[in-house]
Amino acid sequence: MSRPTRATISLSALAHNLEQARLAAPNSKVMAVIKANGYGHGLTSVAKGLKQADGFAVACIEEACELREAGFKQKILLLEGVFVANELDLVKQLNLDIVVHSEKQIEWLESRSAANNFSVWLKVNTGMHRIGFAADEFKKQYTRLNKIEAINILILMTHCASADDRQNNYTKQQHNLFTELCAGLPEKKTLVNSAGLLSQEESHFDWVRPGIMLYGVSPFNDSIAQDHELKAVMRVESEIIAINSQKKGDLIGYGGRFKCPEDMLIGVVAIGYGDGYPRQAANGTPILVDNIRTQLIGRVSMDMIMVDLRPIRDARIGSSVILWGSEKLSIEEIASHSSTISYELLCRVTARLKKIEIS
Ligand SMILES: Cc1ncc(COP(=O)(O)O)c(C=O)c1O
Repeated sequence: MSRPTRATISLSALAHNLEQARLAAPNSKVMAVIKANGYGHGLTSVAKGLKQADGFAVACIEEACELREAGFKQKILLLEGVFVANELDLVKQLNLDIVVHSEKQIEWLESRSAANNFSVWLKVNTGMHRIGFAADEFKKQYTRLNKIEAINILILMTHCASADDRQNNYTKQQHNLFTELCAGLPEKKTLVNSAGLLSQEESHFDWVRPGIMLYGVSPFNDSIAQDHELKAVMRVESEIIAINSQKKGDLIGYGGRFKCPEDMLIGVVAIGYGDGYPRQAANGTPILVDNIRTQLIGRVSMDMIMVDLRPIRDARIGSSVILWGSEKLSIEEIASHSSTISYELLCRVTARLKKIEIS
C-alpha cells in the first residue's frame, strides 16, 4: 500500500468542457490552451481528453515536442513564438504555428527561404501591454510580414487583459481597437480566452483560445464552474492517516496557528505543500472528509495537514479526503481561502502528486 495521495484527471470532463466551449462559440475554431503541463494536469493526458480541439496552444517548443513525440498530429501554436533563431528549424520539422510579437522574430523569418511555409499568428497589443506590436506599429509589421515568402498563413491576434471582470468595459475597448486595426484585412482573427469566450459573443472571431474553462474552472471572479456547466477535471484526494484526541487549548501544528476551542478530534491527512496544496490556505479552508464538509486547521506542512473532525461522526483512519474538484468543493473556494487564483493552484501541483487518468 503506498501513500494515498493522488489527483484524478477526468478525460470525459475535458471532452465535456470542450463541448461547452463549442456550444458557446459555435462559429469559431477552438485552440485549446494546454501550456504549463496542461495547467498542471499533465500535458499528454489533457491532449488526449481534448483531442477533438482544432489545435493546441503551448508556451514553448519543449511542450510542442512532447506532444509530437506522444503522437499528436493536431495544429500546435507556440504562444510566444521562438526564443532564438534556430528554433525555427524545429518549428518547420514539427510543423508548428508560431506567434510573432517582436522585430527580432520578424528578422529571423526574413532570413528564411521561401520553402519554409511558416504559419504565423501576428500579435498586436491592444491593451494587455505584455507582448505584441504596439497599435501604431501594427500596419508596418503586417506589411513587412506579408512580404516574407517563407510565410504561408497569417492570422491576426490579440489578448484580453480584463475579460474575467464582466463589469469592466476594457474588453470592449480592446475589441474595438482590434477591429479598427484589422479593418479590411482578409486574414483570420482571434481575440478571446475563456472569459471572453463565455461573455463576449461579438469578440469570438475565427478562433477562440480557451484555457481555464477546459479544466472545469470558472474564468470569472464572481462565479464557479457549475454556473457555466463546466465539470472539474482534476480531483485531489487523500486519506486520514492519524486521528488525535486533543484537549481544549491545545495548539495544532507549526507555530500553533490553531487553538482547540474545546476537547476535539483532529485528523491528519497525507497531503501538504510538497504536493501542491497551498501553504497559504487559512484556518477554515473547506475540506471534505467522507464527503462531509469540514475545515483545515493549523498551518499546512510539507506532507501533511490537519482537519477538524467534529462534524464527521464516523471518521476513521482511511477515511476519504477530497481537497478540491468535487461538486461539493470547488477549486475556486480553495483559491479564495488561499489568497490566490485557481490557475496558480493547478499549475503548482507537484510531480510527487500522482496523476491518474480516469475516463
Ligand atoms: C495568449 C493566450 N490566449 C489564451 C489563453 C487562455 O486563457 P484562459 O486560461 O484564461 O482561458 C492564455 C492564457 O494565459 C494566453 O496567454
